[in-house]
Amino acid sequence: MSDEKSKPTSVLQHIEAVLYVINQLCIGFVTIWVSWTCLRNDLSGIRLHAWLVTFGFVFLMAEGMMCFYDGSWLTLRYSRKYKTFFHVALQILGGGMGVAGCLVQLIRDDWSVSVTIHARLGFAAFILCLISLLSGLAAFLARSLSPTIPPLINKTFHVVISFAAFVIAMMAQFYGFTQTRIFKSQGQDFVILMQVATMVLMVITSIGAMKSLYQKFGSLAS
Ligand code: HEM
Repeated sequence: MSDEKSKPTSVLQHIEAVLYVINQLCIGFVTIWVSWTCLRNDLSGIRLHAWLVTFGFVFLMAEGMMCFYDGSWLTLRYSRKYKTFFHVALQILGGGMGVAGCLVQLIRDDWSVSVTIHARLGFAAFILCLISLLSGLAAFLARSLSPTIPPLINKTFHVVISFAAFVIAMMAQFYGFTQTRIFKSQGQDFVILMQVATMVLMVITSIGAMKSLYQKFGSLAS
């Protein structure tokens, strides 16, 4: 046995690690199941929309937000600079897929968004995601834009709008599971399980964003 003593970890770090594992399980579960359901049917009909938004919003966007999370094992050893690099790459890809998925369906539905709660939320997520991508670019260029926009305001705006985009996208996902036959055919219990997994991943993924906002509003107030 080695005499080496490992660095003690706090209770909070343990809780963060547990939440991280639960979150990865939920993200993986929803992404794999939706991908399996849609890809085995050649992304026909509504499946192209369902797969694009799930892969973009649930997988890539959530993972992009988790890059900065303190308990993230995948990015723990990287500096803030590298975490930002992973974040930008995942969000451009995830946001792009999410926006493309919404666009596909909006065109198919002739831009009629007032029919269901899912459609309304999806449209809101589409608009917010576009603003969020642009605000992300501004946050990335915060130093160069500092003569016009103070970096703290710039970054706070990005986190607020991105947080809203993510939560609304997850709510749209929640209602989406009951909206189409492709998921209902798997059984009511399974649909409820997917909805619960979606809500759990939404809450855990939001922790990092809420912490960031708490710090930013604290700095703005002082
Ligand atoms: C639409 C997808 C996006 C979402 C949901 C999103 C979400 C977030 C969140 C929640 C944070 C705060 C992280 C934390 O401190 O814990 C953040 C920070 C950041 N994001 Fe994004 N983001 C998105 C797209 C982008 C893009 C496209 C870029 C760059 C082109 C970008 C650049 C940044 C930068 C530079 C920060 C660090 C800000 C700071 O130092 O406080 N983001 N983003």
